[in-house]
Formats: sequence, C-alpha cells, structure tokens
Amino acid sequence: MTRSTTAAGGGAHWSRLRGGADRLALGCDYNPEQWPREVWPEDVALMREAGLTFVTLGVFSWSLLEPEEGRFDLDWLAEVMDLLHDGGIAVDLATGTASPPPWLATAYPQVLPVDREGRTRWPGGRQHWCPSSALFTEKATALTAAMAARFADHPALAMWHVSNEYGCHHAPCYCDTCAVAFRTWLERRYGDVAALGEAWGTAFWSQRHTSFAQVLPPRLAPTPSNPAQVLDYARFTSDALLAQYLAEKEVLGRLSPGVPVTTNFMTHSHFRHLDYHRWAPHQDVVSTDHYLVARQEQPEAELAFSGDLTRGLASGRPWLLMEHSTSAVNWQPVNPAKDPGQMLRNAVSHLAHGADGLAFFQWRASRAGSEKYHSALLPHAGTDTRIWRDVLALGALLGRAGAVAGTRVEADVALLWDYEAGWALDQPNQPSTRMRYGDDAHALHAALLDLGIATDVVHPDADLTAYRLIVVPTLHLCTDASAANVAGAAAGGAHVLVTCWSGIVDEHDRVRLGGYPGAFRELLGVRVEEVWPLLPGEHRTLDDGATATVWSEDVGLEGAEATATFADGPLAGRAAVTRRPGAGAAGAAGDAWYLATRLHGAALSRLVERIATAAGVTAPVAAPVGVERVRRRGPQGSFLFLTNRTADTLTVDATGHDLVTDTPADGALALAPGAVAVLIEPETPA
Ligand code: GAL
Repeated sequence: MTRSTTAAGGGAHWSRLRGGADRLALGCDYNPEQWPREVWPEDVALMREAGLTFVTLGVFSWSLLEPEEGRFDLDWLAEVMDLLHDGGIAVDLATGTASPPPWLATAYPQVLPVDREGRTRWPGGRQHWCPSSALFTEKATALTAAMAARFADHPALAMWHVSNEYGCHHAPCYCDTCAVAFRTWLERRYGDVAALGEAWGTAFWSQRHTSFAQVLPPRLAPTPSNPAQVLDYARFTSDALLAQYLAEKEVLGRLSPGVPVTTNFMTHSHFRHLDYHRWAPHQDVVSTDHYLVARQEQPEAELAFSGDLTRGLASGRPWLLMEHSTSAVNWQPVNPAKDPGQMLRNAVSHLAHGADGLAFFQWRASRAGSEKYHSALLPHAGTDTRIWRDVLALGALLGRAGAVAGTRVEADVALLWDYEAGWALDQPNQPSTRMRYGDDAHALHAALLDLGIATDVVHPDADLTAYRLIVVPTLHLCTDASAANVAGAAAGGAHVLVTCWSGIVDEHDRVRLGGYPGAFRELLGVRVEEVWPLLPGEHRTLDDGATATVWSEDVGLEGAEATATFADGPLAGRAAVTRRPGAGAAGAAGDAWYLATRLHGAALSRLVERIATAAGVTAPVAAPVGVERVRRRGPQGSFLFLTNRTADTLTVDATGHDLVTDTPADGALALAPGAVAVLIEPETPA
C-alpha cells in the first residue's frame, strides 16, 4: 500500500538542507571549536569538494557559547556560519544545550543526575543533567534564546537541532527532583492514590501507599521493583525529557518562526529510553542516528529495521539520517572498520528505507578526547585515504540521485513496534529472561527483508487498514484499543501473524485473565493454559522438521487449526503453529496465524513466505532469497533499491538505469556479494 506522495523534493523544509540543489542532502556534525581558526576555510573547501549540502553545528559548544553564566560569546560561531554560507553549506544549528558547562554544574550541583543506586553522575563526560530539572530548563532555554536571537535570520540557517540524543546517558535519573516530578506526573495520571494502587497492584507485598508523598522512583531495592512502577517510571522519564525538548522548541517557535526544528532520535533497537511515538509528532523533520553494533547477529538487517521504524515515526514521509559512521565507532569492546564497499552499502540502505538525506558523525576525526578513534569524513591520515575517496563517491551518488527526494517507500506489510511493550517485557521475574522484546521483531523483519518484502514498522494504534499482512511480534503489553485495531484490520481482510507472549498484559502490566494470549485469544482462536520456556541449549523439533528454541506453550485450539505440532518434549503432539482461517473467498476476513515458539533461519523464512503468499504480498521484482528489494515511488518516477545480503553473486530481474554504477540494466542485473544498486525504473504500474 502505497502511501500518497509529496511533491518532488520533499517540501520546503528539505530544500535548504539540500542546498537548494537537485541532489539528496549530505551532511555531518561539524565541531570547528576543536580546531584552530586557520583550518576552517580549508574545511569549507573540502566540504564543497565532497558535495556536502549542510552541517550540524554547535552540538557540544555550550561552554564556549556561554563561558560564564549569562555572558554569551557567539561571535566565533557567527564567523563559522558566515564561512559556511559563503561556501554554499547550509546549517542545522544546534541549540548547544546537550552538555552543560563546568560553571553550571559547579554553581548548581542539583542539576546532576543520579543513578538507581544513588550515585551522582558527575561532570567529566557529557549529558550530566537531570531530565526533571527546572533549573536546567531555565539555563538551557536562556542559551536557546540567545542563539535564536542572534541566528534566526542568518542566511545559512536551515534547521534547528535541539540538544542531542535525549536520554542517551542520563536516563532514567532517580534523584529527589525526579521523585517530586514523578509524584506530580502520577497524580495527573491517576487522580488519587487508590487508583494508583489498583493500577500498580500494590496489594502485593504490602506496597499500598496512603499518600503520593510515599511514592518513590524505582530505586535500588532488595528485590526487583514493582513492575508497574518501573513501567510508569519509563513513561514518566520519556515525558520529562520531551518536556525539556518542547521548552526549547517553544523558544525557537517564538524567536525563529518558520525554521524547522528537530532533535536526533536513536531508533537503534538497543536504545529504548524514549517512547518516540510520543515524540515524533513534535518534529518538523524526523531525524535519527544509527550505528552498527558488532555484537548483533545481523547488524545490517538491524539497520534496515531502524530505517523502517524511523519511516513509521515519520508517518511514511522522508526522514533524515542525522548521524552514522564512515567506518569504526569508538564505544564497543572492539570497533571493526567497515569493509570496502560497506560505507556505501550502509548509506544506500538508509536511503532505501526512506531517508532523503544522510549525515555523519563527524567532519574531522578529533585529535583529543574520548572520540579521537571514532571514524569521520576526514580521517587523521587526511584526504589521501580510502575513507575520503569513499566520501567523494557517496557525494557524487547523492548528486545523481536527487530525483529520489520526496518519494515514498511502498510496503504491504506492517510490523507492530511499541516501546511500552518493551518496557513491560524486559523486566525481571518473567517466565524467561531469554524472551526479550525486539528479538522476534528483528527475526521476522529480517526474514521479510531476505524475501525482498518491504515492511512499515508502526505503532499498534497506527492506521492498519491498507496493509495486506500485519506482523505482531511479542506485543507483550497490549491495550484494548491496539487489540481491536489488529482485529479490525483482520476483519477487513489483512492476514495477521502473532508471536508468542503477546497480548498478555494491559497498559498497567496486569495479566489479562482467562488464558493466554489474552488480547489476541479470540482473533487467533487459541487458548494457552501454561507456558513452557526452554533452557539455553534445549530445543524442540516440530513435525515438519523445524527446530524450535527459547519458548513453547500448551496451545488449546478454539477455532484455529494446528499447521505444525511439537514432535518431541512434554508437549509432543500439541500445536506449535496455528492458523484460524479467515472468511476466504466468502468474505473479507484474513487468516490469523499464531507462532507459539521461536523458529530460525530457513524454517522461519518458510513460514513467513507461506503467510505472505497467502496474503498476496510479493517482492517488487523477482530475485533469489537474500536480495533486499525496496521500491520508492513519487510523481517524478520509480526507484528500485537492491542490496545483495549474501556471499554469492546473484541475479535480479530488473530493468532501469543503475545510479550507483551509472550503467543500464535490461531485464537482468548481476549483484556481487554486498553490492547495492539504485535503479531508475521505466514506468511501472502503481
Ligand atoms: C552519538 C552522538 C555523537 C557521537 C556519536 C559517536 O551518540 O550523538 O555526538 O558521540 O554517537 O558514535
């Protein structure tokens, strides 16, 4: 289901970031304060050579912008802005509030965050400020106001970049300021303490409060804390940080009206401190950062997932990749360099999943500080380097690919993602710590990628009416409204696949009684009395030969049929995969599938392919399994993004002009291992 398209170019907000040119935006974090002034003109000249259209400026500059409380020194930044403007480079200008300067923490130590064990997070790193601190809001908005007053009319200004990666290092905070703010937040949510007790189940373990004054953040306790308290604390923390963002945004709206405002998200699956579904409506341009994590099973499949999630947050509109890396990062135990070709492949993959612009951290590799071994556009070794040559090649490609701007990804599959479900599930005292939020989502998304099927990753309450297939992975916490939304889509004809340990608790983490999977029992036609998690190393075989791990459960059939059963173990003969047939030809309703265990590799692929085929979902073009295929389309044309995710050379049935190699493809395109192609297609039917 193709979402409607915007005008070519993606609208006015984007035009400045693209340097007003018919090319895709290319940018980076620029930290000129780390270098002598003499370097700045050379920076701008090299930026032009690389085809950069914008830079993000001033993210960590507070201590220079306001060297003493209330005394602002913005002249050096104005000089940089002028230089950039003269060089035709637009600026995504940070408000500079990401990390407070030493004078602030010295004068106001109460802004420092405190961890769960009561330890203060001292200055010396970055982002040492408490999410609930009104004092921090006051100091941050003062800087924002000074910045806006000085630069609102600067011709280089293309966008405001508020703070940086909210929640990355300082959330949650458990200090006394947060305790007070949490109580206010709870009073607003529950009205009285009896309602709070009902929601949190405080009859358990003698936890009943008689006033809000007794309620605390979930600080270190002899046992894990009340799970509903932890869940609400995660919501509260996300809201507290959102309020900090909105306070700065309000200042910008007043003093710099009409200039778009963003803050960079971290839609990487390992970052879950913020509920971005609540943040996204407040972004004029949705932007995110993404870095590959080497310990993950399929880091590049996770990259694709992050892109699909970011597109979901942007309601299908193009989004901006605010940071990624040309090669290694610096914050993992071992930081591998990117292989030859990988930088281009990763960059193109972000475009395939809906980005209209790509930016990197950072321009020059730092000479000092914690990030001196983090890759950059300009490495320590200078321009006679593989990285710099790759940067020039990417710049040239983005120049050729300008027409992609504003086009929309076409997807018939929705995969549901919910930060709250993750907060509820990833807590202690579950049946198994091996059942983690995100694992099933990633595995299913990767299986779809391998089949060349594009997926929108969206909130469970999103409009699902236009999708042919809805995938519901481990939606442990599920509201009545979300369950009704999924059931409604199924009644309207969508096929649905739900995986185990979904629909179990309501929004307060209270179990839905009467059998699992609670909220989806009726839709799926199953009733589970008891779950049987599997130990590490333990597995089950299904009657179709598939190997299952992590989880099993005793599924009773109440309208569904078993399409696969456990062939061994205590549940031998009981259902492992079920299908409740829809109305088929007689009516609209789609089939409802339930996967009551965890499958891997080819077995998972087979199941996904079977369901996708029944739902009428197909890849845009034929290719062997392992070729990612995404089509972006707009009034200006149709673009097919292809990535060979395998170690073999594979041939794709595709026709068009490949922008990567600048060569035509006439019916067949051979893709080397790891290669990417971006084809401008001849007219294809919508
Ligand atoms: C991001 C951050 C950047 C830089 C980068 C390194 O978290 O926004 O400032 O630290 O990571 O990978």
